[in-house]
Amino acid sequence: MKLFLVILFVIVAVVVAKKDDDDDEDLWKSYKSTFGKKHPPENEIIRKKTFINRRKDIEKHNRENKEWKKGLNKFTDMSDEKKKAFRGAKMLKMRERTNGTADDLPGLDRALPSLIDYRRHRCLRPIKIDQGECGSCWSYAAITALEFNTCRKSGAQISMSEQMLVDCDPNNNGCRGGDYTGAWQYIQEVGGAMKSVDYPYISRTTLSNGTCRFNNSLKVAIKVSSYGWVMPYPNENVIRARLQSDGPLPSSMKVIDSFFDYASGVYSDPACIVTDENSVDHAIVIVGYGTTNATSTTPATPYWIVRNSWGIDWGIKGYFLIKRGVNMCNIESWAAYVKIG
Ligand SMILES: *[C@@H]1O[C@H](CO)[C@@H](O)[C@H](O)[C@H]1NC(C)=O
Ligand SMILES: *[C@@H]1O[C@H](CO)[C@@H](O)[C@H](O)[C@H]1NC(C)=O
Ligand SMILES: *[C@@H]1O[C@H](CO)[C@@H](O)[C@H](O)[C@H]1NC(C)=O
Ligand SMILES: *[C@@H]1O[C@H](CO)[C@@H](O)[C@H](O)[C@H]1NC(C)=O
Repeated sequence: MKLFLVILFVIVAVVVAKKDDDDDEDLWKSYKSTFGKKHPPENEIIRKKTFINRRKDIEKHNRENKEWKKGLNKFTDMSDEKKKAFRGAKMLKMRERTNGTADDLPGLDRALPSLIDYRRHRCLRPIKIDQGECGSCWSYAAITALEFNTCRKSGAQISMSEQMLVDCDPNNNGCRGGDYTGAWQYIQEVGGAMKSVDYPYISRTTLSNGTCRFNNSLKVAIKVSSYGWVMPYPNENVIRARLQSDGPLPSSMKVIDSFFDYASGVYSDPACIVTDENSVDHAIVIVGYGTTNATSTTPATPYWIVRNSWGIDWGIKGYFLIKRGVNMCNIESWAAYVKIG
């Protein structure tokens, strides 16, 4: 009898394990087809293992966390090393640690709107192809603000070239990272930017910068009259006022592992309250803010609306919400604005 039970137990265990394996195989196949993944055979096993473990972690998070959800995306089967390449803020100049003067601050004496969402503004270009394994986020951030403010000034909706900055900007390091204020300085010097159609983004596949192909006769003239850091920092009200007066604001943040899985809701992670303000590695663009309505399980939460450069298939159609007013991931320390003359 005892032996019989033991045998029965072993059979059941084997059948269950087999079924789990089959389920995992189905999930893996469907993930690969959804995200267009093709791996060389030697990588297949490790990628599958990463995917299976990460998927379990995503489900656990979604059962426990009511504030934001994780989801499957192109990062789910990637190694930490590979994911690193998708960042690239390298703040080259040590930021001046002085505060702006009171008259630099726009509109703090008036009531600020409770909601700004530039995603609905005609001057914010649609999310572009993702940066890929090239640390060019700084270029995407710089260009987003330039496109917006040029359009707001002249009315013209023009997609401008990130690749031009990656290949040509001597203040920055192409795919090895950069600083959006350095990019604006370069645009100021050359007096404009080429259009995306004339200088398309290729570093997603080449994974490196190319030779500079800037052609002065093809540039869209842009007069950068000034740019600067949003001061004092971190200060959410100053950022809100700047958003209202100067449009979308590039900023930098620290990316920690949980962020790659973001799918919806207001992102926050106690591990991303960073005490060293210089600890940032990814440039993004703050395009608005708001506050969630309280529900029976969650309190009202103030958030920033932020544009990423990881493609339209990441987060909320390429954007994410992140908790506002607590300098989450240092996002309130590195906002910068650009003005077009
Ligand atoms: C900047 O201003 C804030 C608030 O006014 C103050 O607490 C901080 O010490 C100032 N920092 C510097 C470097 O002056
Ligand atoms: C582009 O890459 C080349 C070769 O790696 C390098 O010498 C050059 O400085 C890079 N250009 C920029 C703008 O980073
Ligand atoms: C720059 O663009 C103009 C206009 O299309 C073209 O005639 C010229 O050959 C280009 N110059 C270079 C160096 O590619
Ligand atoms: C939050 O509540 C306000 C007032 O009841 C309502 O107008 C708004 O649509 C709600 N927002 C969301 C996102 O549900």
